Amino acid sequence: MTGYRDTFRASIEDPEGFWADAATAIDWYRTPTQVLDSSNPPFYRWYPDGELNTCHNALDRHVEAGHGERTALIYDSPVTGTRRSFSYAELRREVAQFAGLLVSLGVVKGDRVVIYLPMVPEAAVAMLACARIGAVHSVVFGGFAAKELAVRIDDAAPKVIVSASCGIEGKRVIEYKPLLDRAIDLATHKPDRCVILQRPQAEAALGERDVDWVEAAEVATPADCVPVAATDPLYILYTSGTTGKPKGVVRDNGGHAVALRWTMSNIYDVGPGEVMFTASDVGWVVGHSYIVYAPLLTGATTVLYEGKPVGTPDAGQFWRVIAEHGVKAMFTAPTAFRAIKKEDPKGSFLNDYDLSGFAYLFLAGERLDPETLRWAQDLLKVPVIDHWWQTETGWPIAANLIGLEPMPVKPGSPTVPVPGWDVQVLAPSGEPAEPDVDGAIVIKLPLPPGSLPTLWNDDERFVASYLSAFDGYYLTGDGGHIDADGYVFVMGRTDDVINVAGHRLSTGSMEEVLAGHPDVAECAVIGVADQMKGQVPRGFVVLKAGAEPDEDELRAELIAMVREQVGAVASFKDVAVVPALPKTRSGKILRKTMRGIADGAEEPVPSTIDDPGVLDTLRPILLR
Ligand code: COA
Ligand code: AMP
Repeated sequence: MTGYRDTFRASIEDPEGFWADAATAIDWYRTPTQVLDSSNPPFYRWYPDGELNTCHNALDRHVEAGHGERTALIYDSPVTGTRRSFSYAELRREVAQFAGLLVSLGVVKGDRVVIYLPMVPEAAVAMLACARIGAVHSVVFGGFAAKELAVRIDDAAPKVIVSASCGIEGKRVIEYKPLLDRAIDLATHKPDRCVILQRPQAEAALGERDVDWVEAAEVATPADCVPVAATDPLYILYTSGTTGKPKGVVRDNGGHAVALRWTMSNIYDVGPGEVMFTASDVGWVVGHSYIVYAPLLTGATTVLYEGKPVGTPDAGQFWRVIAEHGVKAMFTAPTAFRAIKKEDPKGSFLNDYDLSGFAYLFLAGERLDPETLRWAQDLLKVPVIDHWWQTETGWPIAANLIGLEPMPVKPGSPTVPVPGWDVQVLAPSGEPAEPDVDGAIVIKLPLPPGSLPTLWNDDERFVASYLSAFDGYYLTGDGGHIDADGYVFVMGRTDDVINVAGHRLSTGSMEEVLAGHPDVAECAVIGVADQMKGQVPRGFVVLKAGAEPDEDELRAELIAMVREQVGAVASFKDVAVVPALPKTRSGKILRKTMRGIADGAEEPVPSTIDDPGVLDTLRPILLR
């Protein structure tokens, strides 16, 4: 079995044989005798009787094999002027110490720990420490506001929260501690303790519940790896759904370790001792999988970068990191490349660096527009690989499998389904769509190891959100087609999830905020195309009868409310007051029609529209 087609066929025709082979790359305390438990569809469990520890596989295993001096993690932070390397032995020491600290605070196997940290190495340390003792981490992206953090605290009910005094955004210092304290005030669930990493840029005053990271870690007794079931949760990662309430995607230990290890050889072509640089954030799935877990499970070196691709200090930082740390593969979102292109269209900063060791650029998180693809290809002269995946899947669903068999690139396509993923396109009738015809992109069950087994404490929502539209299939929420060569084309979400600068957000959560303003009767938020960020949200509000606010002031208030309650990361900067919203006769707001018009498409007026005049009035505002 060598090429893509044979490997893909084997994974679909004999998934148990395929994933039993892949599981041999992982150290087990108890080798699984059963590969897949299909006894309770649509819930599937991989390696149901296996026992392992993810942290052991990520750290101890490499140290015990004599690679303790190899570099595990490089922290590169242009915003603080810091560079620091951790060998595998050093990282294990830090992680064991912090795991001991968590144990001293009463954290035991199965307890949840929320991690709300900027891009500092301690974020990886905290995640791995949880894995070490069988605690379940839930990392919350630092750009989310207190209310979003509070919602996640209430759902995950953590015993401990790990945070820092501040984060750094370009030249700005953002104090995290007041946000954390507000989130805890807003939440019904209260953690026992908060461990705070003090950063010199802004130290925080600690309260009764708080513990100073450094002081407490110094006196903690290092903790060993605890065996957990392969099916035990490793983490919960909240992601945006169509409503304001985020979905707690659960990741198990066994399937996750096996699948990620497999991707490093077959998709990314990064092996032990080689360097991977993923410019994302540990708060997103890309950060979980390819900053922290996959490179370390492989014995490779990962670069954890604190900063933006442009700005502080310049648009040459990615090239500097690649040259300075000998990066073989880089992974980021297309929006980062658009940002660099805008600031340095000729790529002149590249002349300052030697990129001779650089082999591949991987892009994901949003649609890769052909223009950005071409620019990156011409500039870097290495394969530029678009690949498609989601928080739910944990690893790529479609990719050009450079490590297995490179294939020709078709602009606009993340290439072919990755082995393990039986990707199909269905028409609304449930019949398979013809090649090149758009439909709902679905995946035939069972999903492969490492994909979500369920949502945290919510099997019902898991089934309702993903498994009910088409019996026997997982609904990705993306629309698109497959061409006659088997290439997948992902055209965009079919629901109200939007993707802003590679960050997945729910328009529903922004609508909830707007609806909370006393002058607003009803509202809609849609995602519209944006040259730099791919998409940005636009809001439309209808005023309550009798409300006569100053419209400029109202707009400023609404923008501030979204920033305050959802977070700056929403990039919500545009809201219009309109006389009415277009609706169907049953009262459903025609968001898709609005979206189409705003993006300049010749959108047919749906036959179900209640009052076409409303749409006519709105059209010039949408086209603005
Ligand atoms: N903590 C606090 N605030 C944050 C934050 C964090 N962790 N992350 C972002 N923000 C803030 C930003 O400072 C910005 O605030 P502003 O409106 O006051 O300027 C706002 O949230 C929007 O952030 P962003 O969308 O990232 O815009 P940007 O202009 O700061 O940067 C890019 C744009 C394209 C350079 C940046 O988003 C990027 O590098 N993205 C690609 C990599 C990536 O993160 N991908 C995610 C998944 S792969
Ligand atoms: P997230 O869960 O944050 O990783 O976002 C997942 C969503 O991002 C997908 O459902 C897609 O809509 C979009 N996405 C991710 N990668 C790609 C890609 N390569 N091409 C098109 N859309 C993508």
